Amino acid sequence: MKLLVVGSGGREHAIAKKLLESQGVEQVFVAPGNDGMTLDGVDLVNIGISEHSRLIEFAKENDIAWSFIGPDDALAAGIVDDFNQAGLKAFGPSRLAAELEWSKDFAKEIMVKYGVPTAAYGTFSDFEEAKAYIEKQGAPIVVKADGLALGKGVVVAETVEQAVEAAHDMLLDNKFGDSGARVVIEEFLDGEEFSLFAFVNGDKFYIMPTAQDHKRAYDGDKGPNTGGMGAYAPVPHLPQSVVDQSVETIIKPVLKGMIAEGRSYLGVLYAGLILTADGPKVIEFNSRFGDPETQIILPRLTSDFAQNITDILDKKEPAITWLDEGVTLGVVVASEGYPLDYEKGLPLPEKTEGDIITYYAGAKFAENSRALLSNGGRVYMLVTTADTVSAAQKKIYDQLKKQDTTGLFYRTDIGSKANK
Ligand code: AMP
Ligand code: GLY
Repeated sequence: MKLLVVGSGGREHAIAKKLLESQGVEQVFVAPGNDGMTLDGVDLVNIGISEHSRLIEFAKENDIAWSFIGPDDALAAGIVDDFNQAGLKAFGPSRLAAELEWSKDFAKEIMVKYGVPTAAYGTFSDFEEAKAYIEKQGAPIVVKADGLALGKGVVVAETVEQAVEAAHDMLLDNKFGDSGARVVIEEFLDGEEFSLFAFVNGDKFYIMPTAQDHKRAYDGDKGPNTGGMGAYAPVPHLPQSVVDQSVETIIKPVLKGMIAEGRSYLGVLYAGLILTADGPKVIEFNSRFGDPETQIILPRLTSDFAQNITDILDKKEPAITWLDEGVTLGVVVASEGYPLDYEKGLPLPEKTEGDIITYYAGAKFAENSRALLSNGGRVYMLVTTADTVSAAQKKIYDQLKKQDTTGLFYRTDIGSKANK
């Protein structure tokens, strides 16, 4: 069987690598992928994620059994609908099912309609109404630009004044342009943040180990928000009862709701949750695998990944099994300056061997050689599995100290909040 993965980051490297380890998989193509992945035997296809008809043509010509779609923008652009229309199978939600991610407002409506616990909220385009709502609700309170604002459109305000100022910036001073033309004002949820992923087809779902990402750029959760600087799974201090409760109160009702709305969900569902005193509540849904969470979750899958996805696509019961001991932890190495401006073309350390995996994101071969150079914000990630969080941290950080990371940086505290 030949398979196609769409996307180019560390997430797609992890998906492709795991698929290649499956029995009966001859070849895994990634479009467009990155050169670093080829060190694991992946074949790159030079087609961009938005070129649906070229991807479809490639899949037909190469007898691709099914495609796995990584990025949210491809899903929001209806790539799965286009593949299906061409008679091809793809693992990922339709454009309408992916709206759970691409519209915060839609996600909120679904949650309210189907009783999924989430922060109470109001959506406003009028500043005076927003101000009145903030004053009525009191602080702390969260003000979010409705549209995309590179992760900077969220203000967790400790006082009413700060919240009113944030709403003023967005609605009257146009600080986030069109993205801030409407604001979602949300109840502050106090508690531990974690992510829950599931493979889904309709009302059938298969929960993965819990994960915790580190979204801020620098140690101690300081600095700007990034795509994610490191993660670990499972989260050792989250009891199974919290997972069970999240399944009952969040995963089951949202999937039922999506079916009732005629938007049956297929693919990976990613719930960003906060464990409050009243139980887990949703801060966001994503319609895809997380990056860097995929890189620490998939190494824990002990069953045949390609067979599992084939079965889910065919609505058969998949035999999914996970490593049930130890912790898998990964640290992202990024270009200095990320998430803002950064240089490209810096030489990268050799790929690790043995029980530390290197997943590549922004990596490219030098001209005329197979020496890898940096080519993006997040460059590569080291991942390992050990008995405890501290043992995994030690392995990764010892390895990173041996590598020349000039011009690059990484957080030195991934996993430090865990009960080790
Ligand atoms: P978002 O862009 O919606 O993922 O929000 C970015 C970050 O802001 C999240 O990872 C949380 O740490 C924080 N956040 C968002 N919404 C809330 C909320 N309602 N209560 C507390 N923290 C929040
Ligand atoms: N790690 C966060 C995300 O994939 O959105």
